[in-house]
Amino acid sequence: PTLVLADHDAIAREVANRIDALIRERQAAGQRTVLGLATGSTPIGVYRELIRRHRDEGLSFRDVVTFNLDEYYPMAKDSIHSYHRYMWENLFAHIDIDPKNVHIPPGDIPREEVSEACAEYEAEIRRMGGIDFQLLGIGKTGHIGFNEPGSGADSRTRLVHLDNITRKDAAADFFGEENVPREAVTMGVATILDAKEIAILATGEHKAAIVRRAVEGEIDHAVAATFLQRHPATTFFVDEPAAADLT
Ligand code: F6R
Repeated sequence: PTLVLADHDAIAREVANRIDALIRERQAAGQRTVLGLATGSTPIGVYRELIRRHRDEGLSFRDVVTFNLDEYYPMAKDSIHSYHRYMWENLFAHIDIDPKNVHIPPGDIPREEVSEACAEYEAEIRRMGGIDFQLLGIGKTGHIGFNEPGSGADSRTRLVHLDNITRKDAAADFFGEENVPREAVTMGVATILDAKEIAILATGEHKAAIVRRAVEGEIDHAVAATFLQRHPATTFFVDEPAAADLT
């Protein structure tokens, strides 16, 4: 389903509420919760709301395990551009998660070790029982994670080339397109579709065209987000501007 909400904050509250309920329900049953997490500007409100619930409402992340979607390659963990740093600054440093339960694809290992590390990332997700709830944003190319146009429905965690449009979108953050890495390590489309429940979020008029393509367009590998149409438990959370082109 597609849920159109007023704005970024309304989406953040709604999604954080679902994550909160899932964690508490599983805690009550003595089970861990496995979350798939995204970076970028879209999930910031969700993380802010989860931090508030931790601080004010006793939400604990003691038995929460996380797997992030992606990381640039190459990328040092302590770089201001790294998704490792983003996650610690925007979420993990402010909650009671056990650092050993945090997983983020490596951007700082030698190229010859990447494919084995990707296989290990997939294996660790399986050992943890699979992802219970996957949070996603969507890029202008229709990427989820960094599954750019051409990514197949059976793709798994791997090293990929970033699309030129994606690199242009990141240029301001990197003070110039020439500084944006050309590659990334990302979960695959199949990795994402294995999640039991998925929330994909989009806000702003600059996302309206790709939201329409993702929700109403034909399912094919030119737009990775269209594969979500086949997933049995995916909700699209959009604000009014991002929903503007939906028929
Ligand atoms: C981030 C990720 C990307 C972003 C997408 C949207 O981990 O995997 O797919 O979700 O590029 O980015 P924002 O939210 O910055 O518009």
